[in-house]
Amino acid sequence: MKLTKREENVQLFNRWAKTYDAPLLRFWMKGFHKVALRIIKNKESKVLDISCGSGELLRELAKRKFKKLYGVDIAPKMLDVAGRKLPSFVKFQEADVHALPFPHGMFDYVISTEAFHHYDKQKEALQEMKRVTHKNGYIIVADINFFFHFIHFLFEKLEPGCVKVNSKKQIRRIFDEVGLKIIEQKRTFLFAITTVGVVR
Ligand SMILES: C[S@@+](CC[C@H](N)C(=O)[O-])C[C@H]1O[C@@H](n2cnc3c(N)ncnc32)[C@H](O)[C@@H]1O
Repeated sequence: MKLTKREENVQLFNRWAKTYDAPLLRFWMKGFHKVALRIIKNKESKVLDISCGSGELLRELAKRKFKKLYGVDIAPKMLDVAGRKLPSFVKFQEADVHALPFPHGMFDYVISTEAFHHYDKQKEALQEMKRVTHKNGYIIVADINFFFHFIHFLFEKLEPGCVKVNSKKQIRRIFDEVGLKIIEQKRTFLFAITTVGVVR
């Protein structure tokens, strides 16, 4: 029986969890974490890393003395890896971006790195990210981008769990549709575009 995209993602990332922190991948990941690490300054900020994977971004934030850190992911084995690496004040939960287990307006920063192209319903996912961010809070989406539509098309066909790789313009449109004010959008690494929106 054909797996749903969600099932494909859980299977893929559970399988990958053990080796996800390999040095080459860590180097790749850093390109997606740059903007969040630059923008988030106040150590009192409540930060949610959606699709936190093995917890590398949260590890960097914890190193910088941020204390109110939360991570969610749909792959329990990724969360196991993250939970083992990070101090116990970092709270992890298994959850889907489309149904976050948090009240309205709980966070100052909500981040998704290298994961948006895996989301089944991207507009609804961003809407849900907005719901848990308070007014004037920030949403940071850093995702893959390979310059050309035909490469995106191939990637969508070939990568298990991939739903849609967006161009800069397509991401901007989704931010506009959910009513986020874009304050920054740029290429932060050869294959990464980061978009930052503010909740109005
Ligand atoms: C390529 S990894 C990125 C991990 C991490 N953010 C990083 O920068 O290294 C993509 C992650 O997205 C998660 N994911 C995929 N679909 C998801 C969904 N619907 N809700 C929450 N997380 C999801 C996967 O389980 C995986 O851990």
